[in-house]
Amino acid sequence: MNKHLTAIRHLALTEIEELLELSADFKSRINQDKAVPEIKNKVLGLLFFEDSTRTRVSFEQAAHFLKLKTANFAATSSSMNKGETLKDTILTLRYERLSGLVMRHRQSGAPTLAAKFFGGPVINAGDGSHEHPTQALGDALTIIERKGSLKGLKIAIVGDVEHSRVARSNYWLLSKAGAEVRFVGPRTLVPESTTYLSAQVFHELTLGLDGVDVVMALRLQKERMKDGMLSSVHEYAKMYQINREALQFAKPDVLVMHPGPLNRGIEMDDFAADGSSSVITDQVENGVFVRMAALYWAFHEGKGESQEKPTSKKTAVKS
Ligand code: NCD
Repeated sequence: MNKHLTAIRHLALTEIEELLELSADFKSRINQDKAVPEIKNKVLGLLFFEDSTRTRVSFEQAAHFLKLKTANFAATSSSMNKGETLKDTILTLRYERLSGLVMRHRQSGAPTLAAKFFGGPVINAGDGSHEHPTQALGDALTIIERKGSLKGLKIAIVGDVEHSRVARSNYWLLSKAGAEVRFVGPRTLVPESTTYLSAQVFHELTLGLDGVDVVMALRLQKERMKDGMLSSVHEYAKMYQINREALQFAKPDVLVMHPGPLNRGIEMDDFAADGSSSVITDQVENGVFVRMAALYWAFHEGKGESQEKPTSKKTAVKS
């Protein structure tokens, strides 16, 4: 049976904990120049149908650390431009004997479709406004490193929740782990329909940030917005920017996070992005280790392969 990572929503808390423990173990091995298990004789396809900097490079870097070979698929110069469907593209890659796929696509559900036809593990690297599971894992690892646990933390996710796969994956992970998630933003970008996720909703920034342990700002994802969703970027920044004044409402030891790419001066100012509360560079760094864990995990279900298994030490990851 193949093991896919398409959504945090479908993972049990024990699986999330296993992935985070693996990530922490990979991080400590790499930091200490210790050997990591290798995924040999396999080729991973990297399919990015949407722009990406950190996610694509960190999957490549993760694969390099694991000695897993990669094949890059340049969506803009592929036969999909000649009318080939996603299903036929996936079948082509299957019969070219790729062993696993990492996929980013503008359509929600595209990696799930790929998982149906591919025949090997598929990892979602962000699909439309649905999910971005490895981003949430990296964010969780970053929080746990600083706060010890996720349980009981108050976490505000601020901005364009409506279009954010990062917000959804983080919501599922953090709430499964016992954190209290708040969504904060204008009504058009945090609509009432979002409340099905059972997060608290705030349309006033100062109330949403009151006493929080973590602030996670999101990019305004204009590429997914319909007309009229945002009156003006300037007005948004005036009301919802994470800056020195806004952070005064949070706990003094608040962590400031952003998944990137960051539009400086809009969702966050330089004080918040580069100040001592910011853990944005840790998020980027941890992205590599959680992707190593995701690849190792996806390639190892029930196959009983004789590769050295990393010791799943009970790190501080358990929440
Ligand atoms: C995000 C994405 O692509 O979903 N970035 C990322 O992967 N770190 C967020 C965004 O695009 O705003």
